Amino acid sequence: MGEQNIILIGYMGAGKTSVGEMLARYAGKTLIDTDWLIEAAAGMDIPRIFETVGEAEFRRLETEVLTGLLDTADGDIISTGGGLPLREENRGILKKLGTVIYLQVEPQTVLERLKGDQTRPLLQAEDVEARVKSMLAERGPIYGSAAHRTVSVDGRTPEEIAGEIIGMTDYKKSGRIPG
Ligand code: S3P
Repeated sequence: MGEQNIILIGYMGAGKTSVGEMLARYAGKTLIDTDWLIEAAAGMDIPRIFETVGEAEFRRLETEVLTGLLDTADGDIISTGGGLPLREENRGILKKLGTVIYLQVEPQTVLERLKGDQTRPLLQAEDVEARVKSMLAERGPIYGSAAHRTVSVDGRTPEEIAGEIIGMTDYKKSGRIPG
């Protein structure tokens, strides 16, 4: 592995992909998103993966793709699926991969952003609000323990959040956040 990477973790709807895209533009890179890598490897989108081979196989692919990044990522911006840090093995790999930033989000923000979303199998519940609250309560401490830094995202734009992240890392000091 060459240069340090920046890895974004956090719950669904925290903005990992949009903040990641902003950071990647700043760095002159293409965002690497673990969900996209899995979809490409499986030749199916995520709902279809859950439906046909199941969540356990999805989680296995997640670890496989993450391990691969140890060899290939080099000064990259990486966004991750919301459940990726739950495996202890993955948390070890994340820390090896670079600076891990936890995008912390409140349940209300998630509910507003993901209203009507059909691409996330784990949120296709009868009571989405209860599901989001209980998952966040369970996962919050795990995200915290997997990350070097935590950034709160509620009520903020991807530009603001990306700016804060650039300020807290020494990533490509000379660049600028595109507006
Ligand atoms: C998941 C989050 C999703 C995707 C899958 C499972 C999770 O990614 O990996 O649906 O367990 O939180 P996003 O966080 O990008 O939505």
